Amino acid sequence: MLTDDRSERARLALGTADRVLVLTGAGVSHASGVPTFRGGGGFWREHRPETLATAEAFERDPRLVWEWYGWRRELVAQCAPNAAHHALALATSRAVVTLVTQNVDGLHDLAADAVPARLDEAQPQQLQAPARPITLHGSLFALRCTVCDVRRADRTPIDASSLETLPHCRCGALMRPDVVWFGEALDPVGLDAAVTAATQADVCLVVGTSGVVYPAAGVVEVASRAGALVIEVNPEPTALTRLAAIHLSGDAAEVVPALLD
Ligand code: OAD
Repeated sequence: MLTDDRSERARLALGTADRVLVLTGAGVSHASGVPTFRGGGGFWREHRPETLATAEAFERDPRLVWEWYGWRRELVAQCAPNAAHHALALATSRAVVTLVTQNVDGLHDLAADAVPARLDEAQPQQLQAPARPITLHGSLFALRCTVCDVRRADRTPIDASSLETLPHCRCGALMRPDVVWFGEALDPVGLDAAVTAATQADVCLVVGTSGVVYPAAGVVEVASRAGALVIEVNPEPTALTRLAAIHLSGDAAEVVPALLD
């Protein structure tokens, strides 16, 4: 239950906005058990994400990089969407809300899959099937061919015991995780859609991101410059707090559903 002034202002702004842009980061999945990147537990063995999530690391040692992604896929496959994912999925059933995420864990999508059952209990005349989130950094559960660029969804366990057992394309080439690595460009279609939504938003809700990775963090700057009221949900101050008219400190899984109910 949100009772203080700032929370009420945020609730009112979200409830009356014509267009809302939501940007989420790893913190939205914290209550689901997914480790954040820059918090404790963000490392795997002795490796920093920045040294494994690169095209150079994959070229040097695809087995090691796939072993890390296989571990992350297994970890995330055991996690379920939390109350923040569900509240945001229901919110995107209203055309005014665009959800943009940096997360590759697929939990926003799983929450969107669960919405139809909930729609029956809500007011169907006001709601549509939830829009899929714009996944700026790709998905842990998608593969892309390193040669012909073919993509496919895949949730099977990764066998990284040898080069031969790694995922391969029909063309014979090695497949890679379909995620954006450090130094790589984002899919321009997704980024354009996020920037357009940012320029049109009158409220921008930023949840669980440190706001240090660009161009994703820049989407909030675009929204702010275009006049959107920025509301941030994060237990800590971040690089984007300077843009926030309202900072709500707390766990996304508690604060977000209360803001959107
Ligand atoms: P970070 O790990 O940088 O930041 C996670 C944020 O979540 C921090 O600001 C935490 O304070 C906050 N947080 C922690 N627990 C929370 C909770 N229960 N509720 C709300 N917030 C909480 O993760 P991102 O900002 O998502 O990119 O990282 C951005 C990008 O950097 C990632 O998408 C990834 C990484 O490198 C790529 O892989 C390209």
